[in-house]
Amino acid sequence: MQISLRVGRLQDAASDTLILPVFEEGLAGDGLTAEIDSRLDGALTQGIHARQVSGKLHSISNLLTLGKLAAAHVLVVGAGKEADWSAKTARRVAGTAIRRLRADRQSAATLIWPHSDVESIAAAVHGAQLANFSPGQYKTGNAEEDVQSLEILVSEGDSESLTQVAEKARIIGQASNLARSVANEPGNKLTPAIFAEKARELAEASGLQIEVMEEAEMFEKGYGAILGVSRGSDEPAKLVTMRYNGSESGPTIGLVGKGITFDSGGISIKPAADMHIMKTDMSGAAAVLGTMQAVAQLKPRVNVIGVLCLSENLPGPRAVKPGDLLSAGNGKTIEVLNTDAEGRLVLADGLVHAREQGATHLVDIATLTGSCVVALGRINTGVFGSAQEWTDKVLDAAQHAGEGMWQMPLDPEYREQLESDVADIANVGGREGGAITAATFLKEFTGDLPWVHLDIAGTSWQPKSVPYVAKGPTGVAVPTLTRLVETMATPDGTQ
Ligand code: BES
Ligand code: MN
Ligand code: ZN
Repeated sequence: MQISLRVGRLQDAASDTLILPVFEEGLAGDGLTAEIDSRLDGALTQGIHARQVSGKLHSISNLLTLGKLAAAHVLVVGAGKEADWSAKTARRVAGTAIRRLRADRQSAATLIWPHSDVESIAAAVHGAQLANFSPGQYKTGNAEEDVQSLEILVSEGDSESLTQVAEKARIIGQASNLARSVANEPGNKLTPAIFAEKARELAEASGLQIEVMEEAEMFEKGYGAILGVSRGSDEPAKLVTMRYNGSESGPTIGLVGKGITFDSGGISIKPAADMHIMKTDMSGAAAVLGTMQAVAQLKPRVNVIGVLCLSENLPGPRAVKPGDLLSAGNGKTIEVLNTDAEGRLVLADGLVHAREQGATHLVDIATLTGSCVVALGRINTGVFGSAQEWTDKVLDAAQHAGEGMWQMPLDPEYREQLESDVADIANVGGREGGAITAATFLKEFTGDLPWVHLDIAGTSWQPKSVPYVAKGPTGVAVPTLTRLVETMATPDGTQ
Protein backbone atom coordinates (compact mmCIF):
# COMPACT_ATOMS: atom_id res chain seq x y z
CA MET A 1 0.00 0.00 0.00
CA GLN A 2 1.25 3.44 -0.90
CA ILE A 3 1.03 5.80 2.04
CA SER A 4 1.47 9.53 1.78
CA LEU A 5 1.13 12.28 4.31
CA ARG A 6 -0.03 15.78 3.62
CA VAL A 7 -0.32 18.81 5.85
CA GLY A 8 -3.08 20.84 4.29
CA ARG A 9 -6.68 21.84 3.90
CA LEU A 10 -9.77 19.89 3.02
CA GLN A 11 -9.60 20.87 -0.65
CA ASP A 12 -6.22 19.10 -0.80
CA ALA A 13 -7.82 15.70 -0.16
CA ALA A 14 -7.28 13.68 -3.31
CA SER A 15 -9.61 10.70 -2.95
CA ASP A 16 -13.22 9.89 -3.55
CA THR A 17 -13.58 8.51 -0.03
CA LEU A 18 -12.76 10.40 3.13
CA ILE A 19 -12.24 8.53 6.39
CA LEU A 20 -13.20 10.62 9.38
CA PRO A 21 -12.66 9.56 13.01
CA VAL A 22 -15.18 10.96 15.51
CA PHE A 23 -15.14 10.66 19.29
CA GLU A 24 -18.08 9.67 21.44
CA GLU A 25 -18.19 13.21 22.79
CA GLY A 26 -18.60 14.60 19.29
CA LEU A 27 -16.37 15.89 16.54
CA ALA A 28 -12.63 15.41 16.88
CA GLY A 29 -10.28 18.27 17.70
CA ASP A 30 -9.34 20.39 14.78
CA GLY A 31 -10.55 22.43 11.82
CA LEU A 32 -10.77 19.75 9.15
CA THR A 33 -13.60 17.85 10.82
CA ALA A 34 -15.58 20.99 11.54
CA GLU A 35 -15.13 22.06 7.94
CA ILE A 36 -16.49 18.75 6.66
CA ASP A 37 -19.45 19.09 9.01
CA SER A 38 -20.28 22.58 7.84
CA ARG A 39 -19.89 21.66 4.16
CA LEU A 40 -22.37 18.82 4.82
CA ASP A 41 -24.78 21.29 6.44
CA GLY A 42 -24.22 19.82 9.90
CA ALA A 43 -24.99 16.23 8.88
CA LEU A 44 -22.28 14.96 11.22
CA THR A 45 -23.28 16.82 14.38
CA GLN A 46 -26.93 16.14 13.72
CA GLY A 47 -26.20 12.51 12.96
CA ILE A 48 -24.37 12.16 16.28
CA HIS A 49 -27.29 13.76 18.17
CA ALA A 50 -29.80 11.55 16.40
CA ARG A 51 -27.57 8.51 17.14
CA GLN A 52 -27.28 7.75 13.45
CA VAL A 53 -23.54 8.40 13.54
CA SER A 54 -21.63 6.84 16.41
CA GLY A 55 -18.31 7.65 18.00
CA LYS A 56 -18.15 4.25 19.63
CA LEU A 57 -14.84 2.54 18.96
CA HIS A 58 -14.95 0.37 15.80
CA SER A 59 -18.38 1.60 14.67
CA ILE A 60 -18.68 2.78 11.07
CA SER A 61 -21.24 4.86 9.19
CA ASN A 62 -21.09 5.82 5.54
CA LEU A 63 -22.37 9.30 4.61
CA LEU A 64 -23.02 10.31 1.02
CA THR A 65 -21.87 13.86 0.31
CA LEU A 66 -24.30 14.47 -2.59
CA GLY A 67 -21.99 16.93 -4.31
CA LYS A 68 -21.33 19.07 -1.23
CA LEU A 69 -17.72 17.85 -1.09
CA ALA A 70 -15.34 16.78 -3.85
CA ALA A 71 -15.30 13.29 -2.28
CA ALA A 72 -18.38 11.12 -2.87
CA HIS A 73 -18.54 9.63 0.63
CA VAL A 74 -17.35 10.05 4.14
CA LEU A 75 -16.67 6.92 6.13
CA VAL A 76 -17.19 7.98 9.74
CA VAL A 77 -15.20 5.77 12.14
CA GLY A 78 -15.85 5.72 15.87
CA ALA A 79 -12.75 6.62 17.88
CA GLY A 80 -14.17 5.95 21.36
CA LYS A 81 -13.91 8.34 24.29
CA GLU A 82 -11.47 11.18 23.69
CA ALA A 83 -9.97 10.61 27.15
CA ASP A 84 -9.04 7.04 26.15
CA TRP A 85 -7.27 8.12 22.95
CA SER A 86 -3.90 6.36 22.66
CA ALA A 87 -1.57 4.80 20.12
CA LYS A 88 -3.58 1.61 20.54
CA THR A 89 -6.92 3.22 19.71
CA ALA A 90 -5.32 5.18 16.87
CA ARG A 91 -4.13 1.88 15.40
CA ARG A 92 -7.58 0.36 15.75
CA VAL A 93 -9.41 3.31 14.22
CA ALA A 94 -7.22 3.30 11.11
CA GLY A 95 -7.39 -0.49 10.93
CA THR A 96 -11.18 -0.60 11.18
CA ALA A 97 -11.48 1.87 8.31
CA ILE A 98 -9.07 -0.04 6.07
CA ARG A 99 -10.83 -3.37 6.71
CA ARG A 100 -14.10 -1.72 5.66
CA LEU A 101 -12.51 -0.31 2.49
CA ARG A 102 -11.23 -3.81 1.62
CA ALA A 103 -14.67 -5.33 2.09
CA ASP A 104 -16.18 -2.54 -0.08
CA ARG A 105 -13.42 -3.04 -2.68
CA GLN A 106 -12.34 0.58 -2.44
CA SER A 107 -8.72 0.93 -3.45
CA ALA A 108 -7.93 4.47 -2.25
CA ALA A 109 -8.95 6.87 0.51
CA THR A 110 -7.94 10.00 2.39
CA LEU A 111 -7.74 9.63 6.13
CA ILE A 112 -8.56 12.87 7.90
CA TRP A 113 -6.41 12.58 11.01
CA PRO A 114 -7.50 14.59 14.05
CA HIS A 115 -4.08 14.84 15.73
CA SER A 116 -0.69 15.84 14.39
CA ASP A 117 1.36 14.05 17.03
CA VAL A 118 4.09 11.72 15.87
CA GLU A 119 2.92 8.79 17.98
CA SER A 120 -0.67 8.67 16.73
CA ILE A 121 0.37 9.13 13.10
CA ALA A 122 2.84 6.25 13.34
CA ALA A 123 0.11 4.16 15.00
CA ALA A 124 -2.40 5.01 12.27
CA VAL A 125 0.03 3.97 9.53
CA HIS A 126 0.89 0.75 11.34
CA GLY A 127 -2.78 -0.07 11.98
CA ALA A 128 -3.65 0.63 8.35
CA GLN A 129 -0.90 -1.70 7.12
CA LEU A 130 -1.87 -4.54 9.47
CA ALA A 131 -5.51 -4.22 8.42
CA ASN A 132 -4.59 -4.44 4.76
CA PHE A 133 -3.49 -8.06 5.14
CA SER A 134 -5.68 -11.07 4.55
CA PRO A 135 -4.75 -14.65 5.48
CA GLY A 136 -6.61 -15.88 2.37
CA GLN A 137 -3.52 -15.70 0.18
CA TYR A 138 -4.47 -18.87 -1.71
CA LYS A 139 -8.14 -18.07 -2.30
CA THR A 140 -8.93 -17.69 -5.97
CA GLY A 141 -11.51 -15.00 -6.67
CA ASN A 142 -10.79 -13.34 -3.33
CA ALA A 143 -13.81 -11.37 -2.08
CA GLU A 144 -11.56 -8.68 -0.62
CA GLU A 145 -9.15 -6.43 -2.42
CA ASP A 146 -6.00 -4.77 -1.09
CA VAL A 147 -6.21 -1.03 -0.56
CA GLN A 148 -3.65 0.46 -2.92
CA SER A 149 -3.15 3.94 -1.58
CA LEU A 150 -3.87 5.88 1.56
CA GLU A 151 -3.37 9.59 1.97
CA ILE A 152 -3.24 10.96 5.49
CA LEU A 153 -4.34 14.56 5.82
CA VAL A 154 -3.50 16.58 8.93
CA SER A 155 -4.21 20.26 9.41
CA GLU A 156 -0.93 21.26 11.02
CA GLY A 157 2.64 20.14 11.66
CA ASP A 158 5.93 19.88 9.82
CA SER A 159 5.26 17.96 6.65
CA GLU A 160 8.83 16.69 6.22
CA SER A 161 9.24 15.24 9.70
CA LEU A 162 5.73 13.77 9.77
CA THR A 163 6.36 12.15 6.38
CA GLN A 164 9.49 10.54 7.81
CA VAL A 165 7.51 9.20 10.75
CA ALA A 166 4.86 7.79 8.43
CA GLU A 167 7.49 6.20 6.19
CA LYS A 168 9.19 4.48 9.10
CA ALA A 169 5.86 3.13 10.36
CA ARG A 170 5.09 1.94 6.84
CA ILE A 171 8.38 0.01 6.71
CA ILE A 172 7.68 -1.68 10.04
CA GLY A 173 4.07 -2.45 9.09
CA GLN A 174 5.21 -3.95 5.81
CA ALA A 175 7.79 -6.07 7.65
CA SER A 176 5.07 -7.28 10.05
CA ASN A 177 2.97 -8.31 7.05
CA LEU A 178 5.93 -10.13 5.52
CA ALA A 179 6.29 -12.11 8.75
CA ARG A 180 2.54 -12.81 8.69
CA SER A 181 2.47 -14.08 5.13
CA VAL A 182 5.47 -16.34 5.82
CA ALA A 183 3.94 -17.64 9.06
CA ASN A 184 0.70 -18.38 7.21
CA GLU A 185 2.36 -20.60 4.59
CA PRO A 186 1.35 -24.25 4.86
CA GLY A 187 3.99 -26.91 5.42
CA ASN A 188 3.98 -28.11 1.82
CA LYS A 189 4.45 -24.58 0.45
CA LEU A 190 7.20 -23.58 2.84
CA THR A 191 9.75 -26.29 3.57
CA PRO A 192 13.09 -25.41 5.20
CA ALA A 193 14.65 -25.24 1.70
CA ILE A 194 11.95 -22.90 0.38
CA PHE A 195 12.17 -20.69 3.49
CA ALA A 196 15.95 -20.47 3.06
CA GLU A 197 15.50 -19.53 -0.59
CA LYS A 198 13.03 -16.82 0.36
CA ALA A 199 15.54 -15.46 2.86
CA ARG A 200 18.21 -15.47 0.15
CA GLU A 201 15.99 -13.52 -2.23
CA LEU A 202 15.17 -10.99 0.45
CA ALA A 203 18.84 -10.61 1.40
CA GLU A 204 19.90 -10.10 -2.20
CA ALA A 205 17.15 -7.55 -2.79
CA SER A 206 17.94 -5.57 0.35
CA GLY A 207 21.74 -5.70 0.54
CA LEU A 208 22.04 -8.12 3.47
CA GLN A 209 24.71 -10.82 3.64
CA ILE A 210 23.42 -14.36 3.87
CA GLU A 211 24.78 -17.85 4.39
CA VAL A 212 22.70 -21.01 4.24
CA MET A 213 24.32 -23.85 6.16
CA GLU A 214 23.59 -27.39 4.91
CA GLU A 215 23.38 -30.50 7.09
CA ALA A 216 26.91 -31.68 6.18
CA GLU A 217 28.40 -28.53 7.67
CA MET A 218 26.10 -28.73 10.71
CA PHE A 219 27.50 -32.21 11.25
CA GLU A 220 31.08 -30.91 11.05
CA LYS A 221 30.29 -28.19 13.55
CA GLY A 222 28.71 -30.65 15.94
CA TYR A 223 25.22 -29.13 15.66
CA GLY A 224 23.63 -32.44 16.65
CA ALA A 225 20.52 -30.96 18.26
CA ILE A 226 19.03 -29.43 15.09
CA LEU A 227 20.18 -32.50 13.13
CA GLY A 228 18.35 -34.72 15.60
CA VAL A 229 15.10 -32.85 14.92
CA SER A 230 15.39 -33.01 11.13
CA ARG A 231 16.20 -36.76 11.04
CA GLY A 232 12.54 -37.75 10.94
CA SER A 233 11.93 -35.80 7.74
CA ASP A 234 13.04 -36.12 4.12
CA GLU A 235 13.47 -32.35 4.01
CA PRO A 236 16.95 -31.39 5.20
CA ALA A 237 17.36 -28.74 7.88
CA LYS A 238 18.83 -25.36 6.93
CA LEU A 239 20.57 -22.97 9.28
CA VAL A 240 20.37 -19.49 7.79
CA THR A 241 22.53 -16.59 8.92
CA MET A 242 21.56 -13.12 7.69
CA ARG A 243 23.80 -10.21 8.48
CA TYR A 244 23.26 -6.46 8.54
CA ASN A 245 26.42 -4.41 9.07
CA GLY A 246 25.56 -0.88 10.16
CA SER A 247 28.58 -0.04 12.27
CA GLU A 248 32.30 -0.75 12.50
CA SER A 249 32.13 -1.04 16.27
CA GLY A 250 29.63 -1.44 19.06
CA PRO A 251 27.28 -4.30 19.87
CA THR A 252 26.11 -7.05 17.52
CA ILE A 253 22.56 -8.16 18.19
CA GLY A 254 21.86 -11.82 17.48
CA LEU A 255 18.20 -12.60 16.69
CA VAL A 256 17.53 -16.33 16.67
CA GLY A 257 14.18 -17.62 15.37
CA LYS A 258 12.55 -21.03 15.74
CA GLY A 259 11.65 -22.13 12.23
CA ILE A 260 9.84 -25.47 12.41
CA THR A 261 7.98 -25.40 9.10
CA PHE A 262 5.69 -28.14 10.41
CA ASP A 263 5.59 -29.62 13.91
CA SER A 264 3.82 -32.98 14.05
CA GLY A 265 5.45 -33.69 17.40
CA GLY A 266 7.62 -36.41 15.85
CA ILE A 267 7.50 -39.86 17.50
CA SER A 268 5.84 -38.17 20.53
CA ILE A 269 3.13 -37.29 18.03
CA LYS A 270 0.54 -34.61 18.67
CA PRO A 271 -3.23 -35.26 18.71
CA ALA A 272 -4.94 -34.67 15.35
CA ALA A 273 -7.20 -31.84 16.54
CA ASP A 274 -5.69 -28.49 15.53
CA MET A 275 -2.44 -30.08 14.39
CA HIS A 276 -2.70 -27.98 11.21
CA ILE A 277 -1.97 -24.85 13.27
CA MET A 278 1.56 -26.24 13.63
CA LYS A 279 2.25 -24.96 10.11
CA THR A 280 2.89 -21.67 11.96
CA ASP A 281 5.63 -23.15 14.14
CA MET A 282 8.13 -21.02 12.24
CA SER A 283 6.58 -17.71 13.34
CA GLY A 284 9.76 -16.91 15.31
CA ALA A 285 11.95 -17.29 12.23
CA ALA A 286 9.36 -15.30 10.24
CA ALA A 287 9.63 -12.47 12.81
CA VAL A 288 13.42 -12.48 12.46
CA LEU A 289 13.09 -12.34 8.66
CA GLY A 290 10.64 -9.42 8.87
CA THR A 291 12.88 -7.57 11.31
CA MET A 292 15.91 -8.04 9.04
CA GLN A 293 13.92 -6.53 6.16
CA ALA A 294 12.90 -3.52 8.27
CA VAL A 295 16.45 -3.04 9.55
CA ALA A 296 17.87 -3.20 6.01
CA GLN A 297 15.52 -0.36 5.05
CA LEU A 298 15.90 1.78 8.17
CA LYS A 299 19.71 1.45 8.21
CA PRO A 300 20.49 2.01 11.91
CA ARG A 301 24.17 2.28 12.94
CA VAL A 302 24.46 -1.11 14.62
CA ASN A 303 25.19 -4.71 13.61
CA VAL A 304 22.52 -7.39 13.52
CA ILE A 305 22.73 -11.12 12.85
CA GLY A 306 19.52 -13.01 12.12
CA VAL A 307 19.66 -16.80 12.55
CA LEU A 308 16.82 -18.93 11.21
CA CYS A 309 16.71 -22.50 12.61
CA LEU A 310 14.75 -24.27 9.87
CA SER A 311 13.55 -27.87 10.09
CA GLU A 312 10.48 -30.08 9.95
CA ASN A 313 9.54 -32.25 12.94
CA LEU A 314 8.16 -35.51 11.54
CA PRO A 315 8.05 -39.16 12.73
CA GLY A 316 9.89 -40.71 9.75
CA PRO A 317 11.80 -44.02 10.03
CA ARG A 318 15.04 -42.34 11.05
CA ALA A 319 13.36 -39.97 13.50
CA VAL A 320 14.84 -39.22 16.90
CA LYS A 321 13.17 -41.40 19.56
CA PRO A 322 12.36 -40.77 23.21
CA GLY A 323 15.45 -41.73 25.17
CA ASP A 324 17.84 -40.84 22.31
CA LEU A 325 20.92 -38.81 23.03
CA LEU A 326 21.97 -35.71 21.09
CA SER A 327 24.89 -33.38 21.47
CA ALA A 328 24.68 -29.67 20.70
CA GLY A 329 27.21 -27.29 19.17
CA ASN A 330 28.62 -26.31 22.56
CA GLY A 331 29.32 -29.98 23.39
CA LYS A 332 26.47 -30.38 25.88
CA THR A 333 24.67 -33.73 25.77
CA ILE A 334 20.88 -33.80 25.68
CA GLU A 335 18.52 -36.65 26.53
CA VAL A 336 15.42 -36.38 24.36
CA LEU A 337 12.54 -37.40 26.60
CA ASN A 338 9.87 -35.95 24.33
CA THR A 339 10.42 -35.38 20.61
CA ASP A 340 7.67 -32.74 20.65
CA ALA A 341 9.98 -30.45 22.61
CA GLU A 342 11.90 -29.84 19.37
CA GLY A 343 11.96 -26.04 19.34
CA ARG A 344 14.45 -25.82 22.18
CA LEU A 345 16.68 -28.33 20.35
CA VAL A 346 16.95 -26.33 17.14
CA LEU A 347 17.34 -23.11 19.12
CA ALA A 348 20.15 -24.61 21.22
CA ASP A 349 22.33 -24.87 18.11
CA GLY A 350 20.99 -21.57 16.76
CA LEU A 351 22.06 -19.76 19.93
CA VAL A 352 25.50 -21.41 19.88
CA HIS A 353 25.82 -20.41 16.23
CA ALA A 354 24.83 -16.77 16.83
CA ARG A 355 27.52 -16.56 19.51
CA GLU A 356 30.08 -18.09 17.19
CA GLN A 357 29.13 -15.53 14.54
CA GLY A 358 29.98 -12.69 16.90
CA ALA A 359 26.72 -11.75 18.60
CA THR A 360 27.23 -9.77 21.80
CA HIS A 361 23.53 -9.68 22.78
CA LEU A 362 20.98 -12.42 22.12
CA VAL A 363 17.23 -12.55 21.62
CA ASP A 364 15.48 -15.73 20.58
CA ILE A 365 11.88 -15.76 19.36
CA ALA A 366 9.87 -18.97 19.35
CA THR A 367 6.42 -20.56 19.37
CA LEU A 368 7.90 -22.66 22.13
CA THR A 369 5.31 -23.94 24.61
CA GLY A 370 1.60 -24.55 25.05
CA SER A 371 2.37 -23.85 28.68
CA CYS A 372 3.04 -20.18 27.86
CA VAL A 373 -0.38 -19.95 26.17
CA VAL A 374 -1.95 -21.32 29.36
CA ALA A 375 -0.04 -18.82 31.50
CA LEU A 376 -0.48 -15.62 29.50
CA GLY A 377 -3.20 -16.33 26.93
CA ARG A 378 -2.97 -14.60 23.57
CA ILE A 379 -2.47 -11.08 24.91
CA ASN A 380 1.11 -11.11 26.18
CA THR A 381 4.31 -12.67 24.89
CA GLY A 382 6.31 -14.44 27.61
CA VAL A 383 9.66 -12.76 28.26
CA PHE A 384 12.55 -14.56 29.99
CA GLY A 385 16.01 -13.10 30.48
CA SER A 386 19.41 -13.76 31.97
CA ALA A 387 20.54 -10.13 32.43
CA GLN A 388 17.97 -7.69 33.71
CA GLU A 389 19.41 -4.63 31.95
CA TRP A 390 19.04 -6.32 28.55
CA THR A 391 15.60 -7.72 29.45
CA ASP A 392 14.49 -4.21 30.43
CA LYS A 393 15.62 -2.90 27.04
CA VAL A 394 13.44 -5.50 25.31
CA LEU A 395 10.44 -4.76 27.57
CA ASP A 396 10.89 -1.04 26.98
CA ALA A 397 11.04 -1.55 23.20
CA ALA A 398 7.85 -3.63 23.42
CA GLN A 399 6.07 -0.91 25.31
CA HIS A 400 7.05 1.73 22.76
CA ALA A 401 6.03 -0.58 19.93
CA GLY A 402 2.64 -1.22 21.56
CA GLU A 403 3.13 -4.98 21.96
CA GLY A 404 2.07 -6.81 25.12
CA MET A 405 5.04 -8.55 26.75
CA TRP A 406 5.28 -9.86 30.28
CA GLN A 407 8.38 -11.00 32.13
CA MET A 408 8.36 -14.47 33.67
CA PRO A 409 10.74 -15.80 36.34
CA LEU A 410 13.89 -17.87 35.77
CA ASP A 411 15.04 -18.88 39.27
CA PRO A 412 17.99 -21.32 39.17
CA GLU A 413 15.90 -23.86 41.11
CA TYR A 414 13.88 -24.67 37.96
CA ARG A 415 17.01 -26.30 36.52
CA GLU A 416 16.48 -29.32 38.78
CA GLN A 417 13.45 -30.34 36.70
CA LEU A 418 15.78 -30.83 33.71
CA GLU A 419 18.18 -33.24 35.41
CA SER A 420 18.83 -36.32 33.26
CA ASP A 421 20.17 -39.69 34.45
CA VAL A 422 22.35 -40.08 31.37
CA ALA A 423 23.03 -36.67 29.81
CA ASP A 424 23.92 -33.11 30.83
CA ILE A 425 20.31 -32.06 30.46
CA ALA A 426 16.89 -33.47 29.54
CA ASN A 427 14.80 -31.69 26.92
CA VAL A 428 11.63 -31.59 29.06
CA GLY A 429 11.01 -30.83 32.70
CA GLY A 430 7.45 -31.97 33.32
CA ARG A 431 4.15 -30.11 33.21
CA GLU A 432 4.83 -27.73 36.05
CA GLY A 433 6.18 -24.37 34.89
CA GLY A 434 6.61 -25.76 31.37
CA ALA A 435 7.35 -22.41 29.71
CA ILE A 436 9.94 -21.65 32.39
CA THR A 437 11.78 -24.98 32.14
CA ALA A 438 11.85 -24.53 28.35
CA ALA A 439 13.54 -21.14 28.83
CA THR A 440 15.86 -22.67 31.45
CA PHE A 441 16.92 -25.25 28.87
CA LEU A 442 17.73 -22.54 26.31
CA LYS A 443 19.82 -20.58 28.81
CA GLU A 444 22.37 -23.43 28.87
CA PHE A 445 23.34 -22.52 25.30
CA THR A 446 23.76 -18.77 25.70
CA GLY A 447 27.20 -18.77 27.37
CA ASP A 448 27.65 -15.62 29.36
CA LEU A 449 25.95 -13.30 26.87
CA PRO A 450 22.95 -11.22 27.87
CA TRP A 451 20.01 -13.16 26.44
CA VAL A 452 16.25 -12.76 26.20
CA HIS A 453 13.81 -15.46 25.14
CA LEU A 454 10.39 -14.49 23.74
CA ASP A 455 7.76 -17.24 23.84
CA ILE A 456 5.22 -16.21 21.19
CA ALA A 457 3.19 -19.46 21.15
CA GLY A 458 0.05 -17.53 22.19
CA THR A 459 0.60 -14.17 20.52
CA SER A 460 1.76 -15.24 17.07
CA TRP A 461 -1.65 -16.54 16.03
CA GLN A 462 -5.12 -15.15 16.77
CA PRO A 463 -8.07 -17.52 16.27
CA LYS A 464 -10.65 -14.72 15.84
CA SER A 465 -10.87 -11.69 13.59
CA VAL A 466 -11.47 -8.29 15.19
CA PRO A 467 -12.75 -5.20 13.33
CA TYR A 468 -9.24 -3.83 12.81
CA VAL A 469 -7.25 -6.94 11.95
CA ALA A 470 -7.92 -10.35 10.40
CA LYS A 471 -7.52 -13.57 12.33
CA GLY A 472 -4.50 -15.78 11.80
CA PRO A 473 -0.81 -14.83 11.94
CA THR A 474 -0.03 -11.60 13.78
CA GLY A 475 3.58 -10.81 12.90
CA VAL A 476 4.20 -10.33 16.60
CA ALA A 477 7.65 -9.14 17.75
CA VAL A 478 8.64 -7.43 14.48
CA PRO A 479 7.85 -3.92 15.84
CA THR A 480 9.54 -4.68 19.18
CA LEU A 481 12.69 -6.18 17.67
CA THR A 482 13.02 -3.37 15.13
CA ARG A 483 12.69 -0.81 17.90
CA LEU A 484 15.20 -2.74 20.03
CA VAL A 485 17.75 -2.71 17.22
CA GLU A 486 17.25 1.04 16.77
CA THR A 487 17.75 1.76 20.45
CA MET A 488 21.11 -0.07 20.29
CA ALA A 489 22.35 2.09 17.41
CA THR A 490 24.99 4.76 17.86
CA PRO A 491 23.48 8.16 17.14
CA ASP A 492 24.58 9.62 13.81
CA GLY A 493 23.77 13.20 14.62
CA THR A 494 20.56 13.33 12.61
CA GLN A 495 18.30 11.49 15.03
N1 BES B 1 5.26 -25.81 18.80
C1 BES B 1 4.89 -26.34 20.06
C2 BES B 1 4.33 -25.32 21.03
C3 BES B 1 3.03 -24.65 20.65
C4 BES B 1 1.85 -25.08 21.21
C5 BES B 1 3.00 -23.55 19.84
C6 BES B 1 0.68 -24.44 20.92
C7 BES B 1 1.82 -22.91 19.52
C8 BES B 1 0.65 -23.36 20.08
C9 BES B 1 6.12 -26.98 20.71
O1 BES B 1 7.06 -27.53 19.86
C10 BES B 1 5.64 -28.07 21.59
O2 BES B 1 5.14 -29.03 21.07
N2 BES B 1 5.81 -27.93 22.90
C11 BES B 1 5.38 -28.90 23.83
C12 BES B 1 6.46 -29.06 24.87
C13 BES B 1 6.24 -30.23 25.79
C14 BES B 1 6.42 -31.52 25.01
C15 BES B 1 7.22 -30.14 26.91
C16 BES B 1 4.09 -28.39 24.48
O3 BES B 1 3.98 -27.19 24.72
O4 BES B 1 3.20 -29.20 24.69
MN1 MN C 1 6.64 -29.54 19.35
ZN1 ZN D 1 7.12 -26.75 17.97
